[in-house]
Amino acid sequence: MLIQRPHDVPPSEITPKSVFAERRQFLRLAAGGALVLALSDAHAGDRLPAAAASPYSTPEEPTPYRHVTGYNNFVEFGSGKDIPAERAHRLRTSPWSVTLDGLVHKPRMLAIEDILKLAPLEERVYRLRCVEGWSMVVPWVGFSLSTLLKQVEPLGSARYVALESVVQPDTQPGVRLPLLDWPYTEGLRLDEAMHPLTLAAVGLYGEVMPKQNGAPVRLVVPWKYGFKSAKSIVRIRFTDKEPLTTWNKLQPDEYGFYANVNPEVSHPRWSQARERRIGDFLKRPTQLFNGYAEQVGPLYAGMDLRKFY
Ligand code: MTE
Repeated sequence: MLIQRPHDVPPSEITPKSVFAERRQFLRLAAGGALVLALSDAHAGDRLPAAAASPYSTPEEPTPYRHVTGYNNFVEFGSGKDIPAERAHRLRTSPWSVTLDGLVHKPRMLAIEDILKLAPLEERVYRLRCVEGWSMVVPWVGFSLSTLLKQVEPLGSARYVALESVVQPDTQPGVRLPLLDWPYTEGLRLDEAMHPLTLAAVGLYGEVMPKQNGAPVRLVVPWKYGFKSAKSIVRIRFTDKEPLTTWNKLQPDEYGFYANVNPEVSHPRWSQARERRIGDFLKRPTQLFNGYAEQVGPLYAGMDLRKFY
């Protein structure tokens, strides 16, 4: 993505890799494990209660943990794939709440502890395809975003949701620079947001969400380019108009509102026909809707996918 790497971050703000690596203990989901985490005390890296496997999971081999948590885009911490893993430990994720408002019957501000209790957690192994041409397979833990959205009873006039990421200038050096228009905002049509594949993710690899991946709660929309999947969400606003989104505002000819993965619709600077799975040497063909065409194709019936890219 076209952003400058900031140079004004003092070295004191960067965690040495060795300290970071010590914290990252790989903890697999223990099938049927009886550990019940006091979720109010959940910290990035802590183990989550065992999550049921989801029928939406791909049988593909997950990308190794070190890549999933070490090769990230989180511009609030700066640009460069290794920067979020070095700096995101400073993000304050407690207390945390998500405001749901706009065109709804019952606007609410929900604490993360209450969000975690809304539905049983599921493990969803999804492909994640970044617009830059790389992809991963990530075992996310979470539940369908629709469960959260239904809490506030959307009005009939609500047609879209806008999702906002947190802005913490004292912990996120990137937001002190005009790299993007802060807060990072993404949007979905309401039917896309309510689709069961759309995930409110609170963890990965059986752990509480690592901060560099968007703790404590992030979006995962597996059939869209990765930039749609906003991290560290603090607000979800229901609207009747297509919301302005960060990347679309910055470069509308490059980043569309829909951003559905499509090998036949190229980005002006990158062909989208092929992708490199992180860890692989050779590229592989990209699939329409990132391989989720059967589930989500009907959402776009009759739409010109070149025009609504
Ligand atoms: N959310 C916020 N708030 N800030 C970001 O910079 N980057 C996006 C998306 N969500 C981003 C964000 C992009 S471009 C991608 S590809 C994915 O997060 C990367 O998610 P990952 O680091 O967990 O792989």
